[in-house]
Amino acid sequence: MPFDHVVSINDFSNEEIMHVFEIAEKMLPAARGETASDLLRGKILATLFFEPSTRTRLSFESAMNRLGGNVIGFSDPSGTSFVKGETLADTIRMAEAYSDVIVLRHPREGAARLASRFSNKPVLNAGDGAGQHPTQTLLDLFTIIHEKGNLQDQNVVLVGDLKYGRTVHSLAYALTRFGAELTFVSPAQLRMPDEITSDLSQTATIHQTESLEDAVNDADVVYVTRIQKERFPDPAEYLQVAGAYRVDLKLLEQGKSDVIVMHPLPRVDEIAPEVDHSKYSSYFTQAFNGVPVRMALLGLVTGVFE
Ligand code: CP
Repeated sequence: MPFDHVVSINDFSNEEIMHVFEIAEKMLPAARGETASDLLRGKILATLFFEPSTRTRLSFESAMNRLGGNVIGFSDPSGTSFVKGETLADTIRMAEAYSDVIVLRHPREGAARLASRFSNKPVLNAGDGAGQHPTQTLLDLFTIIHEKGNLQDQNVVLVGDLKYGRTVHSLAYALTRFGAELTFVSPAQLRMPDEITSDLSQTATIHQTESLEDAVNDADVVYVTRIQKERFPDPAEYLQVAGAYRVDLKLLEQGKSDVIVMHPLPRVDEIAPEVDHSKYSSYFTQAFNGVPVRMALLGLVTGVFE
């Protein structure tokens, strides 16, 4: 399947998404370290992280290493020529010269799209401000299929910061395309942006509420997000909504017995630790699934997989 840049989940057809998952499934033994692979030997991945990350950066690096490739990059732009005033375009031109694939996380919405215009090597969006996080969406969908069997007709409750949380923006688009039903739960100040809700409402049923208790009763998946403190222009506004929701066992026991809890992580206090080892928890498996899904993507964008 020939695709180059991965900027938005909307750049993928449903068939392409399912193709990524077919390959990711085959990558699972190598992702776990049970088998060795050198399919990307000689290839170099550049990880350019202008914002903090644990999972996205490390799982991309793990994916590249598991496929026998090499990784260069940075996790803190303060150690790069960005501090001397170098533009994103020039940084991308350098990464293009030194590597075969570029993974970019940047605080500015639209940065990955811009970067893709300056690079003939594939640029993978690892999160652009409050914009999108398409590779997270792919691993989220992969996880739901693994845990629930399919995406169609799943009642997915998206909880928390739906305004600034980029993972829920990409995920909401993808879930509606696959026939899932969505319920948005957030404080009024952090509702899903109107343009996204309006887009989605053209093809899907969307429910919105501030009551997590009501929403959980019929949920198949509860997808929890952190309130994105770093994106609030005014810290006082953050304090008004901090701690608005907390998912614990008492809440989950009111819902369906097979409901699962997901979270892109990192979490702060929105999921009680008691959920971690319960039957409901899927968030650590979800984080692991970043490795096989990103292995599939790296193989596809380098042309090693068809
Ligand atoms: N899910 C996610 O993007 O996590 P990191 O910020 O740790 O990469």
